[in-house]
Amino acid sequence: MKQNIILIGFMGVGKGTLARAYSQKTGVYNIDTDDLIESKENKKVKKIFAEFGESRFRELEQETATWIEDSIENSLISCGGGFYKVKNINKLGKIILLDASFEWIYNGLLNAPNAKKKLKKRPLFSEPEKAKELYNQREKDYKEIADVILSVENKTIDEVVNELIEISKNDINKKDI
Ligand code: S3P
Repeated sequence: MKQNIILIGFMGVGKGTLARAYSQKTGVYNIDTDDLIESKENKKVKKIFAEFGESRFRELEQETATWIEDSIENSLISCGGGFYKVKNINKLGKIILLDASFEWIYNGLLNAPNAKKKLKKRPLFSEPEKAKELYNQREKDYKEIADVILSVENKTIDEVVNELIEISKNDINKKDI
């Protein structure tokens, strides 16, 4: 297995925010699978869904996973909420699930200063009832695939960053963390 940290979890649970805070504190690079897809395609995720459909987006996730397996080491990788389904997920690094209840995630999105933008960029969150259904479908799979489950509910970013540093200290080659 590669020396990477793979952050998985439901939309809006805070993977990107945590990844950036972790990088700032440790100096470990982080990349985001949605960002990689958007820059390769020169299109926003939302546009890819609208123009080519979800199945094309899933293919792009698989291409991205193959590239990560071939090319990325000693990094933290934050994944789109459905990325865990790529077939080589177990080869990419240590998988950490950011876990929280659907209600906590949804309230967090609604109360964010840029709530509208955060909801708008996520096509699978356009209807909360459907998002909740998706959450229920995925909950078990997320937990099964994870090497570690990191609960984030009601914790500050700082607390979660510190826990993540502790969890990952033997999994990333960086002398000073
Ligand atoms: C998706 C999650 C999104 C993005 C796409 C599909 C999903 O990423 O990859 O809209 O299937 O859960 P975030 O988890 O960063 O919102």
